[in-house]
Formats: sequence, C-alpha cells, structure tokens
Amino acid sequence: MQEPTMRFLIMAAVAGALFAQSGAPAGNADNGKKIFAAYGCYQCHGREGQGGEGSGPRIAPRPIPFAAFEKYVRQPTGQMPPYTAKVVTAQELADIYAYLSSRPQPPAVKSLPQLNN
Ligand code: HEC
Repeated sequence: MQEPTMRFLIMAAVAGALFAQSGAPAGNADNGKKIFAAYGCYQCHGREGQGGEGSGPRIAPRPIPFAAFEKYVRQPTGQMPPYTAKVVTAQELADIYAYLSSRPQPPAVKSLPQLNN
C-alpha cells in the first residue's frame, strides 16, 4: 500500500471514531449561524447560544449530546415551542449543532484579573 493511501485510511478511521463519539452528523457551522438567527432560536437562547435571563437556557459551546438535542427541539417538554422536521430539517439541525459547538469556550476564571484580586 502506498504511503499517502495509508495516511488517508488512518485519518478516515480517526474521523470515524470522532464522529461516533459525539454522535452528531457533520454540519456546516456558517449555515447553522444563519439558521439559528432566521428561525428565532437566538431570541430565547442568545446569539451565541449563551442563554438569556428569563428566556432560554445556555446551549453553547457544549450543547447536550446530539440525540437528546434533536429530541428536545422536536418535542420540547417545557416552554420552548416545538420545531418539526418540516420547519427545521435534520441537516439544518446538524448545522445549528455545529454552530453551537464551534462557539469559543469562556476564558478560565484565573485568566481574569478582576476575579483574582
Ligand atoms: C420562545 C423561546 C425559545 C425559542 C424560540 C427556542 N427555544 Fe430552545 N428552549 C427554550 C426554553 C425556555 C428552554 C428550557 C426548557 C423549556 O422550557 O422548554 C429551551 C431548551 C432548549 C434545549 C434543551 C437544552 C438543554 O440543555 O436541555 C435545546 C437543545 C434548545 N432549546 C434548542 C433550541 C433551538 C435549536 C432553537 C431554534 C430552532 C430553539 N431552542 C428555539 C426557549 C426557546
């Protein structure tokens, strides 16, 4: 087997393992950002998914596992309105998930001088 082919196979195997771990289908974060705004998710969850007081909880940068995420958006049990597959397709949901997962992590408390006086 040629070296580049071998390398590709290893990379594919690693990617497959990562995919299996998060359980999330591949999504386009840029498109997800647009949909997150267009479908009004941001109105309750904030533009960065950071959550808002008295509205939706924080859902980024570490959203709940994809299966639970999808289940909740389709059949919420609280105040959130349901989004059926006719409104938000499976691919669009994967894009939103990719967007939320791509949000920057908050800085460590130790790195903020104001909190370390
Ligand atoms: C009208 C306000 C509102 C809108 C719009 C909204 N949500 Fe929510 N969402 C909530 C609230 C409130 C909760 C907390 C549970 C509840 O009351 O349903 C929630 C919970 C969730 C949860 C579960 C969070 C967890 O950690 O268990 C997910 C995931 C979620 N929303 C994703 C979305 C996505 C994606 C959209 C857009 C397609 C969206 N929401 C639009 C209000 C909203």
